[in-house]
This record gives sequence, C-alpha cells and structure tokens, in this order.
Amino acid sequence: MSNQVLIEINDLTKVFGNLIANNKVNITINKHEIHALLGENGAGKSTLMNMLSGLYSPDGGSIIFEGKHCNFTAPKDSISVGIGMIHQHFKLIERLTAFENIILGNIKSILLNKKIEMNKIKQLIDKFQLTIDLNKYVADMSIGEKQILEIIKVLYRGAKLLILDEPTAVLTPQETKRLFEIMRHLKEFGCSLIFISHKLNEVMEISDRITVLRKGSSIQTLDTISTTPQELTNLMVGVPVTFNIIRTLQKYDEKVLHVNNLCYISEEGVEVLKGINFSIKKGEILGLAGIAGSGQKELCEAIAGILKVNSGKIVFKDEDLTQLNARDIINRGVSLSFIPEDRLGMGLVANLDIVENILLKHYNKQGFIINRKSVTKRAEKIIQTLDIKTASIHHPIKNMSGGNIQKLLLGRELDINPELLITAYAVRGLDIQTTFKIYDLLNEQKARGVSILYVAEDIDAMLDFCDRIMVMCNGEVTGIVDSNKTNKNKIGLMMMGRSVNNGSNS
Ligand SMILES: Nc1ncnc2c1ncn2[C@@H]1O[C@H](COP(=O)(O)OP(=O)(O)O)[C@@H](O)[C@H]1O
Ligand SMILES: [Mg+2]
Repeated sequence: MSNQVLIEINDLTKVFGNLIANNKVNITINKHEIHALLGENGAGKSTLMNMLSGLYSPDGGSIIFEGKHCNFTAPKDSISVGIGMIHQHFKLIERLTAFENIILGNIKSILLNKKIEMNKIKQLIDKFQLTIDLNKYVADMSIGEKQILEIIKVLYRGAKLLILDEPTAVLTPQETKRLFEIMRHLKEFGCSLIFISHKLNEVMEISDRITVLRKGSSIQTLDTISTTPQELTNLMVGVPVTFNIIRTLQKYDEKVLHVNNLCYISEEGVEVLKGINFSIKKGEILGLAGIAGSGQKELCEAIAGILKVNSGKIVFKDEDLTQLNARDIINRGVSLSFIPEDRLGMGLVANLDIVENILLKHYNKQGFIINRKSVTKRAEKIIQTLDIKTASIHHPIKNMSGGNIQKLLLGRELDINPELLITAYAVRGLDIQTTFKIYDLLNEQKARGVSILYVAEDIDAMLDFCDRIMVMCNGEVTGIVDSNKTNKNKIGLMMMGRSVNNGSNS
C-alpha cells in the first residue's frame, strides 16, 4: 500500500434480510483529500458510512485504516483509530453548552481539568479557523452552528478522517459556502474527508475525487477535474440520461389566488404567520422557499382549510375560502399534497390499498354511495400514467417503495383535476428519473392553466423550474422574485431574513 492511502475499503458487504445494501464495495481514500460519495437515495451511502463508524458490522469484506485491519464492534472503536462521523441528524444535547457537548462522552470526562481542555479546544478552533461560542447552549444554536460543533467534537477526539453524511441538506446556500471553507481548511491541515451528497454541483465544487454508488455497488471512482455532471448522472442512474429541468412558458395573466394579510398564532402563542401577502396567476408555478419551520407548512394548510387562521383573507377566483372547511375547499378545486419526511405521515393510510386510499379523497363528494368500481378504474389510470410499481392495486400501500408512494400521493391529487395545486416536497428523496417525471407532470398541469404553489428545498432546481419564488423567514414573506432575475445567493439572504424588494411582490 502506498503511504498516500489513509483507508482502504475492500469488498465491504452489508445485508439486511434479503436486501443487499452494500455489495462488495471498494473505495480507497487518500490522505489530504476530499472524497465525495455520490449516489441516489437508497444507493447504500449511509450504510457504508455506518460500517466505517462502527455502528453496523460488515457481513463481508475488510476495512484497512493506515495499514491496519479494523474490526469495529462499536462506534468507540472507530473513533479511537481516528474516524469521526458527523451524522445527518445531530447527536447533540440541547440543554448543554457547546463546551460540555465537546467533552461529553470522553471516558475520563469527570477527571478532566476543564481549563486544560478548554485551551485544547480553543487551539483546535484557531488552527482550523472555526467560529463558535463555546459557552452557548446547543438549544440556542442555528443548524450551521451545530454542524460546526459536531466537527469540533470529532476533531477533539482526534479524527483524521471526517465523514459528513449529506451535511448540506439542511443548510442555506451561505451556510453551505461556509462549510465548504471549513472543509478546505481541514484538508489543508492534513485531514481527509468523505463528503456525501446527491447534489452534483456541490460534489463538483468541493471534491478531489468522486466514487459513485449505485444499488449498493461501487461503480467507479473518478477525478473530479476530469469528469462532468452528465457523466456522473449517467453513472448514478445506470443508463445514459438526458434530463433538464424545463421552465415552460407561463401563458396566462389572470391572478387567481389572493392571500391578504394572513395571520396565524399557534396554540402555544407563537406568531407562525405574520401578515402574509401574495398572489398566484393562472398557470403559474410559484416556488416557496425557506429554512424548515419558517411557516411554509402552516401557510399551505391555511389555504387548504386544514388550519384556521386568526385574521386575513384567502380569495380564490373571487370566492372567499377563509371560512370554508377543507372539504368545501377541495370541492372548489384546491388540492394539497404534502410529502412529509416519513411520507406516510400525511394523507395516506399505510394499511389500505391504492383504491381505498383514493376513495379517502372522494367519499364525501359522492355522498354515501361510494362507487368502488369507478375508483378502481381511476386507480388503474393513476398507476399507468405515473408508472407506479406495485404488485396490485389491492395490496396495502405500506409495501410500496417511497418513490411509488410519493407518485401515488401526487397522482391522487391530480386525479381530482385541481385548479390550484399546493405541493410540498414533491421530489423529496426520489431517484432522478422519478424526479423528472414529476417535473413533467407538474408542467403539464401548468400548461392546462393549473396554478401551483411549489414548496421545496433545492434552490437550484427551484430557480430552473418555478416562474417566481417566494421566500419565507420566521413567519414573514421576505421577498417574491422572478426566477430569471435572481440567484441562489439572493434567495439565501432572504431565507435568513434579509428583505429584498424588487417590485415584483404580490
Ligand atoms: N437498518 C436497516 N434495515 C433495513 N434496511 C436498511 C437499513 N438501513 C438501510 N437499509 C436499506 O438499505 C438500502 C441503502 O440505504 P442507505 O444506505 O440509507 O442509502 P443512501 O444513504 O444511499 O440513501 C436502502 O434500500 C435502505 O432501505
Ligand atoms: Mg443516506
């Protein structure tokens, strides 16, 4: 082995039941490199990293770190050789300070001299040019700050290899930029990093080399400088693909939805919506961006009649929806499809089959006589148009894959021919081909004159897909901008609460 190599992963295999999550994966990580691990959802990235961090034990293959065979049986084994995992979901304790979180878990923590440890940590912070307030409580920290704290925590434990599993998924564009700077410093000072993402532009920007995983196998390792996003997409998907997100022409001028001064105060007394104003035109896709929890969910639910607002007005096609109940609003052509993180949390019932789930949306419309036959036909049509994979329309949907459930959820909404479609996180966690299928479907709706409120996380994709983008921060609209007159950086500033006034509001 050359002394360039930090860790060698040989034929590493992990099996869950009859699913091979990692199938003889081979990757070599060099010293001083940022190595990206790229692959679609479910490709096996997190499973592989969980083996490197001692959380899962492999069913085959080997891990060789600095020339030594590793046999991790618990995370502490992996930490002790110098592997530091920064998890997708932080494992920090909210009611402790940054400093306490860092020294916590150190076996000798009761015996530690706090002053000495504090100094050690300060030296690390200086060396890697990090910024953090060590006395701040985790509960008061932003997501970006928590991530830096996680990084310091593993450095303090002597990590030479840092693993970041989808670290940017929760960050604003500005925070991502800051994280990339930190990653470059870490590399400069001798660390290696594994950076996991399914976003091509990020991988192209930050990595030295890229390994593509597909369906549990390592497909190829490439030098970043000599590959292209197109080549990487082909490797991720497995067949040559020609996908572009298309923003179709917005053909109509008539404003159909008017939201005026909408306010909502939660049961806990928190002002969740603070005077929201906007409108959507017929056949327009209005993107809604914002850090998670900025009020997007409540705004969607208010329009759909699920949540009763305290004041303000929602007018759709000259009709006041504000006081109507959810069922009446559906009957007026407004549909809401919200993809929660667990997918099944909202709107679908796992133990029911496809037909029954579609019936759920219809039963009131047709009175007490439920026409099962016509719904069965509809189910078959939805399955066909959206290419939903299922053994039968009579199987409980809990056996379907996430992507197929998501298509069903959207298909069911489109089936009621809405005039206003509110869709949240429609492509969350989907593979590339399904993602583009969804974009196509929504563009078809747009061409038919359907107005779409499109809540999403991926700013790059929103800029390509939406006609305008509205940004919320902390319950307020901080800007509404034309997609072709703005950029990611400006959207990021608005996400953090900086108002941008460019005259295209409302
Ligand atoms: N603990 C587990 N039990 C059963 N199946 C799992 C478990 N963890 C992951 N899987 C499955 O293994 C495959 C790879 O998952 P994962 O490693 O999380 O992919 P990625 O991180 O690339 O999205 C998926 O099909 C997933 O459902
Ligand atoms: Mg993962």
